[in-house]
Amino acid sequence: MILVTGGAGFIGSNFILDWLTQSDEAVLNLDLLTYAGNLENLSSLQDDPRHVFVKGDIGDTKLVSELLDKHKPRAVINFAAESHVDRSIHGPEDFIQTNVVGTFHLLESARAYWAELDEEAKSDFRFLHVSTDEVYGTLGNSDPAFTEATPYAPNSPYSASKAASDHLVRAYHHTYGLPVLTTNCSNNYGPYHFPEKLIPLCLLNAMAGKPLPIYGDGQQVRDWLFVKDHCGAIRRVLAEGKLGETYNVGGWNEKANLNVVNTLCEILDELKPREDGLSYKAQITFVKDRPGHDRRYAIDATKIERDLGWKPQETFETGIRKTVIWYMENQSWVANVVSGEYRQWLNKQYS
Ligand code: NAD
Ligand code: TYD
Repeated sequence: MILVTGGAGFIGSNFILDWLTQSDEAVLNLDLLTYAGNLENLSSLQDDPRHVFVKGDIGDTKLVSELLDKHKPRAVINFAAESHVDRSIHGPEDFIQTNVVGTFHLLESARAYWAELDEEAKSDFRFLHVSTDEVYGTLGNSDPAFTEATPYAPNSPYSASKAASDHLVRAYHHTYGLPVLTTNCSNNYGPYHFPEKLIPLCLLNAMAGKPLPIYGDGQQVRDWLFVKDHCGAIRRVLAEGKLGETYNVGGWNEKANLNVVNTLCEILDELKPREDGLSYKAQITFVKDRPGHDRRYAIDATKIERDLGWKPQETFETGIRKTVIWYMENQSWVANVVSGEYRQWLNKQYS
């Protein structure tokens, strides 16, 4: 089996659902169930013996060592993290604790487990660390996109904590020979996305008749990748990635935030027109900018395409339409997510 950490979050749960459609290899899912973890994402696996869920912290070395010894996974895929930049600005400590200290403890547990494996299992073992393009910092409009050789220059507590974890993963390969792989991916979107992030937040606010908050001038650029494509890239890197290497993963879909939100509004105008006949764009509101807001991220995904033959299947236009339809059709998931803690966050961030 494989051990997936953070498998109740947005990307981790998509990864598990996707994995089990492609393979019968079981998944042990270790997740602390923070505000971002939601077992409802995995409700379709409730009676599936291929999915084993354990509530716990990647930093709990006793628990993680017991799980590794008991289940003997051939790989660890580390999704677990605090992932929201705005929350890292309000309170960086949890980010240091999980993303840096937690990853360090997870590496230590994996190293001890790996050292005791027999030679064949040892050479088959993989530790795949899921990271972000935000570690590379910010780009000007005409700068070339991030490659794997771009120096790290993180600007937010979130990206700094992810950068630190990437460095630890790298060091465990160079120093101890742990067979690691790292992926640095651009902004994901798709089903089960927690509505604190731009796309699901604006979708839910639009349908609820609330303002669509655009930070600053809305001209910040992100590269967007449909989450299922990210899952495919991770599977490919796990299967064929070269040990110790990093792979940039992106969708070749650079968009300014305002364009993203306008596109969302246009799809909603078509699929679920407002009763007053106005466009959802009427709900767009410019609000105070995020402190230290990175202007542009762009991913050069040539390496993973060239060396591993991976390419995204969705364009932004096809992926975003699927996403809008998913949120329209999954109102009970939405209703359960937007409960107490989420409301408190909205008050703190947008009031
Ligand atoms: P998420 O916030 O939706 O989910 C994170 C999950 O980790 C949650 O289920 C949470 O309960 C769990 N978790 C948090 N702390 C934990 C701990 N100490 N021990 C065990 N579990 C813990 O995040 P996501 O968007 O699914 O991102 C997953 C990974 O992908 C993260 O490492 C993130 O940095 C990276 N990433 C995300 C994006 C994106 O656009 N969302 C892009 C590139 C990379
Ligand atoms: P987000 O989804 O938080 O992802 P990240 O910060 O990791 O890129 O934000 C995506 C972009 O959208 C980012 O430039 C910030 C901007 N944004 C808004 O303009 N308004 C919002 O309410 C949010 C949450 C984000």
